[in-house]
Amino acid sequence: MSDTSAHTDAHTGSTVSTLSTEGAGAITRAPLAVVTGASSGIGLHIAAELARRGHDLVVCAEDAGLDDAMADLAEAGRHVVVPVRADLATTEGVEHLVREVGAVNKPVDVLVLNAGVGVSGPFVDTPLEDDLRLVALNVTSVVHTAKRLLPEMVRRGEGAVLVTSSVAGTMPGPWYATYAASKAFLLSFAEAIRYELDGSGVTVTALMPGPTDTDFFRRAGMEDTVVDDMHKDDPADVARDGVEAMLRGDDHVVAHSWRNKVQAGLLKGMPEKLKAATHAQMSKEKDSGANAADHQHD
Ligand SMILES: NC(=O)c1ccc[n+]([C@@H]2O[C@H](COP(=O)([O-])OP(=O)(O)OC[C@H]3O[C@@H](n4cnc5c(N)ncnc54)[C@H](OP(=O)(O)O)[C@@H]3O)[C@@H](O)[C@H]2O)c1
Repeated sequence: MSDTSAHTDAHTGSTVSTLSTEGAGAITRAPLAVVTGASSGIGLHIAAELARRGHDLVVCAEDAGLDDAMADLAEAGRHVVVPVRADLATTEGVEHLVREVGAVNKPVDVLVLNAGVGVSGPFVDTPLEDDLRLVALNVTSVVHTAKRLLPEMVRRGEGAVLVTSSVAGTMPGPWYATYAASKAFLLSFAEAIRYELDGSGVTVTALMPGPTDTDFFRRAGMEDTVVDDMHKDDPADVARDGVEAMLRGDDHVVAHSWRNKVQAGLLKGMPEKLKAATHAQMSKEKDSGANAADHQHD
């Protein structure tokens, strides 16, 4: 087995771990991938998948769980990993990530904008700060990070962007209205930039997972919802689908199970009210009854 080592990068101050036969701290000529939300779930598996395919990584998350992820990623391949702890729901957090990416002094080949959270409950009851933080992370940080890192990729004329949207973004989401709306934004945003960049050498792909077995539902306070009891895809399968679609340059991929693909297909052309009703059957609380009126009279 190769040696694993870690040192503090003189430029970034970040821990640089290497799993390399080329010597500690060796910056290889491997392509560089930046992955947000890489400490757990889908993002961690995307980072591991890219590491196995020979990418160096800048991985970003907010909490100390990123340190455990570093150990997992060290197992995944022969590469350099730069961890960046940043709260991407803030302007300063995004700018910190951008600075750390710049300090690596390598062009960004792959940009994975994946960090996201959910907020569950009737919109009139959820705390305003939770909804605003969701928008700041799921929407604003994606626009901000792309605005800062994408132009250089376009100038170089090569690269790939993967944006984690959701099947939830294809329909209004009663009882997690801001979440579904944020994912609809990301789907539209990814498709629009993709169109603008046609022929530039940079592709943009939207990853659209359905229910996936990660910490997402607990963090979103969705443990009492119907969807939390449904079959969930393995995040490793979802990540692989996303990475493969991105490397092929596809416009989007519905991951992973056929149920998600069939659902996404059936939703096309449905009136918005029917889509909202379909979504509500999953996002409602298990014992809450089947319709909006039940919630309105809580
Ligand atoms: N799970 C599903 O069913 C599902 C379905 C469709 C789409 N998605 C999307 O997939 C993406 C990944 O979610 P997941 O399911 O893998 O959930 P997860 O395991 O909870 O992962 C979320 C990741 O985002 C990071 N993150 C959260 N808040 C952050 C912040 N303020 N600043 C920086 N990083 C932050 C987390 O790091 P910390 O722990 O450090 O905060 C973690 O690495 C999200 O965009 C989610 O909307 C998930």
